[in-house]
Amino acid sequence: MSRNIFASSPRRLLFGFGQRLSSTLECPTPKTTTVPIVQNEMPDCEFQPPSYRGPSYEDIKKLRKNHLTPNILSYYKKPLLIHAGHKQWLYDHNGKRYLDMFGGIVTVSVGHCHPKVKRALEEQSETLWHTTNIYMHPKIHEYAEKLTAKFPGDLKAVCFVNSGSEANDLAMLMARVHTGNHDIVTLRNCYHGMSPYTMGLTAHSTWRFPLAGVSNGIHHVMNPDPYKGLWGGSHCRDSPVQVNRECDCMKNGSCLAANMYYKELEQTFLHSLPCGKVAGMFAESIQGVGGTVQYPRDYIKKAATLVRANGGLFISDEVQTGFGRTGEYYWGFEGHGIIPDIVTMAKGIGNGFPLAAVVTTPKIAKSLGMALHFNTYGGNPLASAVGLAVLEVIEEEQLQKNSLEVVPIF
Ligand SMILES: Cc1ncc(COP(=O)(O)O)c(C=O)c1O
Ligand SMILES: [Zn+2]
Repeated sequence: MSRNIFASSPRRLLFGFGQRLSSTLECPTPKTTTVPIVQNEMPDCEFQPPSYRGPSYEDIKKLRKNHLTPNILSYYKKPLLIHAGHKQWLYDHNGKRYLDMFGGIVTVSVGHCHPKVKRALEEQSETLWHTTNIYMHPKIHEYAEKLTAKFPGDLKAVCFVNSGSEANDLAMLMARVHTGNHDIVTLRNCYHGMSPYTMGLTAHSTWRFPLAGVSNGIHHVMNPDPYKGLWGGSHCRDSPVQVNRECDCMKNGSCLAANMYYKELEQTFLHSLPCGKVAGMFAESIQGVGGTVQYPRDYIKKAATLVRANGGLFISDEVQTGFGRTGEYYWGFEGHGIIPDIVTMAKGIGNGFPLAAVVTTPKIAKSLGMALHFNTYGGNPLASAVGLAVLEVIEEEQLQKNSLEVVPIF
């Protein structure tokens, strides 16, 4: 048996979900190659999913076509109708079991329907579902303390929201209000969200609508990609998955590619930023949607220093890389040897519950006090109970260690 994959970007099979859209949007057809599929038996699982009792597969397809907006596409010629989840397994409407390699776009961090998270949700749902954060309820406070304890330095103030886009929106607002500057730098090939504000940050043409004002004050700089970019090679990054290009970086003691990409970044400060001033720079610690791109060693560190020297804040988007997922570190930014000014997180934080957060220093957070800022659901009792339980499960089951062990397999 064989299948076609995108020859040019095998890494995209890990996290990226941008590539598929490029083909549906009639961009040039990617080159393909044929690789053999090795079929292994799945281990036994005693769990029996409940029988499916919903509308028929054909009816669901019609309902989807007639009532959901067309931006919601589906994978596979015959899309799966997913009915139940248990740990790493998913079950379709016929009870067929699948190994979930994508975790709802890297979101199910501790396993489907984890009993501890489920129990926390059930217990909270019997006490109090909702009150907004303008009232005091215990869970948001307990959760804030536990979550911020995971951060180094002065990163001790948290604001809860509901999605990664919202978290990055808020981080943009904080950076602009705190610094008094407007301009923001992001890397080409990054993904930071789909709200009108964050669509401007995102630098994939396939994920951008031609709207006036989306890119207002945002500058996309050359992506420091040692795999596909102008510079880079097999010594440029610390990664179990290595680049197939030679480079002399080991001999020179510092990464030449990082220096070259950094010089490119400096050009933006010299030529594009008003008076060289910046509100902030965003970077995913490892690019996810863009295809698991890891930057050359020290690039992020140097970029953060440059940004701060020019009045800005460095913002790490940990939506995909946070919560121990990289194995070696709890937060991806630790791998770059920096402490950011603002960190945004979503997805794995809630194991599928709509929850996200922005963590920053009390000093930066204070700038938000100049006007009222409110979010109805952010940190509500149910969300906070789930977030707290997820943190505990990651610790109790040593999931960071588990990531470290499985990373080389991928
Ligand atoms: C790195 C990163 N940032 C932000 C987002 C946006 O998160 P959301 O879809 O929850 O708005 C995503 C979503 O894939 C992401 O991968
Ligand atoms: Zn190098």
